[in-house]
Amino acid sequence: MKFVLGIETTCDETAASIVADGKIILSNVIFSQEEIHRAYGGVFPELAARRHIDLILPVIDEAIKQAGISPAQIDLIAVASHPGLMGALLIGVNAAKSLSVAWGKPFVGVNHIEAHLYAAMMGCESFITPSIGLVASGGHTSLVRINDLGSYELLGETIDDAVGEAFDKTARLLGLPYPGGPEIEQLARSSIQKDSLFKPCRTKERPFHFSFSGLKTQALYAIKGKEPLERAKKAAIAYSFQETALNDLVDKSLLALRHFGLKALYVGGGVSNNQRLRTLFEEKKAPQETIFWPPKGLSLDNGAMIAGLGFHLFQKKGVSDPLDLVPFPTNKSLSF
Ligand code: KG4
Ligand code: ZN
Repeated sequence: MKFVLGIETTCDETAASIVADGKIILSNVIFSQEEIHRAYGGVFPELAARRHIDLILPVIDEAIKQAGISPAQIDLIAVASHPGLMGALLIGVNAAKSLSVAWGKPFVGVNHIEAHLYAAMMGCESFITPSIGLVASGGHTSLVRINDLGSYELLGETIDDAVGEAFDKTARLLGLPYPGGPEIEQLARSSIQKDSLFKPCRTKERPFHFSFSGLKTQALYAIKGKEPLERAKKAAIAYSFQETALNDLVDKSLLALRHFGLKALYVGGGVSNNQRLRTLFEEKKAPQETIFWPPKGLSLDNGAMIAGLGFHLFQKKGVSDPLDLVPFPTNKSLSF
């Protein structure tokens, strides 16, 4: 058995996990910094980086302890090295490099977005390829064709806000705390009004691209000048926003699946935590189409998906990344 330590510090979760052979999760420790960032209505990058400094070693220690192994048994260290907040990434990457030197273990930097897709593969015996992947998170919204693990073609992505970001911003307009996704989902569930007030944003001739900032603006106009809104009205806005955003994700993903004549779709990222998204996919998909979701605890940022993907990446590369590996905030290339 090969034990991989996965480290994740791309945004506001400090997380570490021990995964055996790419999919057996022995521990998955996630320290969410939500409490700290709530006061600012979103992630405050400098504070996130500082908190990662305090938390990274205790979180790694706890992951190793919970897995019931010793550092000597770890075969590989995997770390999310891109994309993400630069200050936050540096903490995880430097921790991985330092432990790599101290313990004499190889390390690999992995793509955080690709790891979100891998999370949806972690519960399965084998991966189905070719297939389609949808990443719906706070920082990204992308549709890809998965040719193989590590080989992707970008079909479309958001041209403005990521879907999770639109949830967070709309929640803020409604006076709901950060992170807004779960808050909107909960409020939407209580809505009596079930007609949609909003329309999805068009992306002209690009059928697999997304746009969510106009939807947020439609919500803004429904709220502006009408405060204080009564609870039923707020719930109707949350419901309409959620229905419009999620149906757009579902329709474009299924369009991509059918366009390429494929049958398997992997969905990852924080928004895949949304139960309504899961129901809509189940309602709209054809019987022969299968949607794969991350197992419990693997939708939001976590170290297990980093460790799992790192295992496969290292098998392919066969060598440790160099100690001068530099993290970077953006997604560098079309195929991750
Ligand atoms: O993947 P993630 O943990 O971090 C990024 O890589 O961005 O995703 C966080 C995002 C936030 O925008 C949060 O509001 C959203 O996922 N989210 C949800 C739900 N749970 C988290 N959005 C909609 N419904 C949810 N239940
Ligand atoms: Zn993420």
